[in-house]
Amino acid sequence: MRTQVAIIGAGPAGLLLGQLLHRHGIDNVILERQTRDHVLSRIRAGVIEQVTVDLLDEAGVGSRMHRNGLVHEGVQICVDGVRHRLSFKELTGKTVTVYGQTEITKDLMDGRAATGAPTIYSAHDVALHDICSERPRVTYRAGGQAHELACDFIAGCDGFHGISRKGVPAGAITSHERVYPFGWLGILTDTPPVSEELIYVRHPLGFALCSMRSPTRSRYYLQCGLAEDIEAWPDERFWEELKPRLDDEARARLVTGPSIEKSIAPLRSFVAEPMRFGKLFLAGDAAHIVPPTGAKGLNLAASDVQYLSRALIDYYSEKSAAGLDHYSDRALARVWKAERFSWWMTMLLHRISDNSFDYKIQLAELDYLFRSKAAATAFAENYVGLPY
Ligand code: APR
Ligand code: PHB
Repeated sequence: MRTQVAIIGAGPAGLLLGQLLHRHGIDNVILERQTRDHVLSRIRAGVIEQVTVDLLDEAGVGSRMHRNGLVHEGVQICVDGVRHRLSFKELTGKTVTVYGQTEITKDLMDGRAATGAPTIYSAHDVALHDICSERPRVTYRAGGQAHELACDFIAGCDGFHGISRKGVPAGAITSHERVYPFGWLGILTDTPPVSEELIYVRHPLGFALCSMRSPTRSRYYLQCGLAEDIEAWPDERFWEELKPRLDDEARARLVTGPSIEKSIAPLRSFVAEPMRFGKLFLAGDAAHIVPPTGAKGLNLAASDVQYLSRALIDYYSEKSAAGLDHYSDRALARVWKAERFSWWMTMLLHRISDNSFDYKIQLAELDYLFRSKAAATAFAENYVGLPY
């Protein structure tokens, strides 16, 4: 089999890239290790920047998001029981859309199915070959048979644990990493959210987040230890640990109920650079990870895909390799700013140590954020998403 662009991974990055390329007449095949249902079972963050909304519209998959997504004009931060509101709309003129990543993935899968472009699920032993030659190839096994896909370019969209980044020779790629000494315990419940806007909570007991998927479905998170066992967290314990971290009004409005999903995620900041090696281009989690504070993961995957799709479209329509040559630098400039913001929000809102100095610095920074229009504007600009 032959295609123009072989895409490894059917997460949001691979699916969005496939859709944008297809709309410009560029052939692509997606190879995904898991089944479609397995990909759709993963619960991830749900805050979509305006630039990501625009890109999903451009890909022709935005209609359900516009119907069901919740437009948020601000966000709330609760510090030791007192809530403050930051209005993105007043500070930047922009908004964000709350819509689950699982729903976006489904919309992208449905959009792709409608185009008839091939996605090979349950593709095993995917391996990249000759990535520095004019004839790169991808081999894999599917349906009990060995296959080979010849292509012009490979897009490594296979997430943090994928094979693409690992295919680059050591020494040609540099990794930068910070692992945080805590994780997030998250639950999804069919209960109404405590507030119309997200509440990020800084409390001496630890961070918490009140988020949502719809007016009847909530998503809550608690800061937890890395060694925590999910079995030790029956729903009642989750609610009892959440309540004291909230302000009085949120506590009074909190509707508890059985969880329909519960998971623990570690927090990590990671960047691999450059994001290109020969004919291989990395995009999304394959190249970088942010801690979820700030919900930048999907949005960064989308901005990488915007730069990469434009570069490939220019290459095929104008025979210009300039966009491909600049891809890594352009993507990384935005990646590092989102890395900075996600790290900053994480350090600002979590219980990071028992040292009272760290705690006092957090309080000073938060007080500055709530009192200074310049600080609030900087926060809002980053939260709604920096321009491409
Ligand atoms: N072969 C084929 N597919 C693979 C392989 C492999 N060896 N390894 C991983 N994959 C697939 C995974 O099964 C997954 O479906 O690649 C896909 C990568 O998807 P994501 O992990 O969702 O990454 P990405 O598309 O970059 O999306 C970034 O999703 O992970 C979240 O928080 C992240 O919100 C961010 C967004
Ligand atoms: C979520 O709704 O899952 C969510 C929202 C905001 C974040 C992280 C996760 O910063």
